Amino acid sequence: MNLYLVTGTTKGLGAALHEVLLADIENMVFSMSRFPPQDRTDSNIFVDLSDPQTIEPTFEKFLAQISGHSFDKAVLINNAGIVAPVGPFNTIDAAALKLNLDVNLLAPMILMRLFANATRAIAKQRLILNISSGAAKRPIYGWAAYCAAKAGVEMATRVASLESAVTDPLLVVCALAPGVIDTSMQGQIRDKSADDFPDVERFRAMKNDGTLRAADDVARDVVSLIHSGRLTNGGIFDIREMLQTQ
Ligand SMILES: NC(=O)c1ccc[n+]([C@@H]2O[C@H](COP(=O)([O-])OP(=O)(O)OC[C@H]3O[C@@H](n4cnc5c(N)ncnc54)[C@H](OP(=O)(O)O)[C@@H]3O)[C@@H](O)[C@H]2O)c1
Repeated sequence: MNLYLVTGTTKGLGAALHEVLLADIENMVFSMSRFPPQDRTDSNIFVDLSDPQTIEPTFEKFLAQISGHSFDKAVLINNAGIVAPVGPFNTIDAAALKLNLDVNLLAPMILMRLFANATRAIAKQRLILNISSGAAKRPIYGWAAYCAAKAGVEMATRVASLESAVTDPLLVVCALAPGVIDTSMQGQIRDKSADDFPDVERFRAMKNDGTLRAADDVARDVVSLIHSGRLTNGGIFDIREMLQTQ
């Protein structure tokens, strides 16, 4: 039996991952979301990831559900994310900045700790997969918060993997940029004004010319990468490069 915990499963990549994982009867799948995916209230742990104080008490509910079980593999996919606020850095207010960093950076870091400690004695192999973005490496006009948060997640991944290599060798911690996906996040990006986001036309063109991938396809690729063993400790991967070299 494999254990999966996926955050942000109401829509987009998270919903697709949840569906693909549930299709395998070998998997016990839990989600952490503000609303249950596909009416699966039984396995959804309700959480608002923008509220760091509630994450640990909420995680206790997940622990209660897996109590007494042991697993061949335990996987946390830190998927939930927001792109807002989009606009020049000198127009972003503190509350919007904090919300972005809480969801995109703080919540994954808190969950990494909780998941690593909780699964150590109950799973043979463990993987923490942080969903990152090309924006972690490339500055994008108007995306200061998102770029900084994703860069932070990648550095937190690298530090955690450095430490796990010494103290917890069966734990793999890595990050994966999933490529451009046809989700509501992309819709929000296309809705921005050119003043806030000068590159907006390129993103509108990506939708029109079919460059965006379907979330279901990306989810299937992510799950096969998890099974492939290619997601190694400390790796900061880009799905497009991985698919080209398989
Ligand atoms: N789409 C792309 O082209 C693209 C490219 C690179 C990286 N990514 C990354 O891929 C991941 C998934 O993105 P997506 O495109 O699927 O986005 P999406 O369609 O906007 O879905 C985001 C998910 O995150 C959840 N979420 C947001 N704020 C939350 C909060 N405070 N508490 C709990 N859940 C929250 C949303 O739930 P609610 O419905 O409750 O808001 C939703 O389930 C993100 O980490 C994103 O940065 C996406």
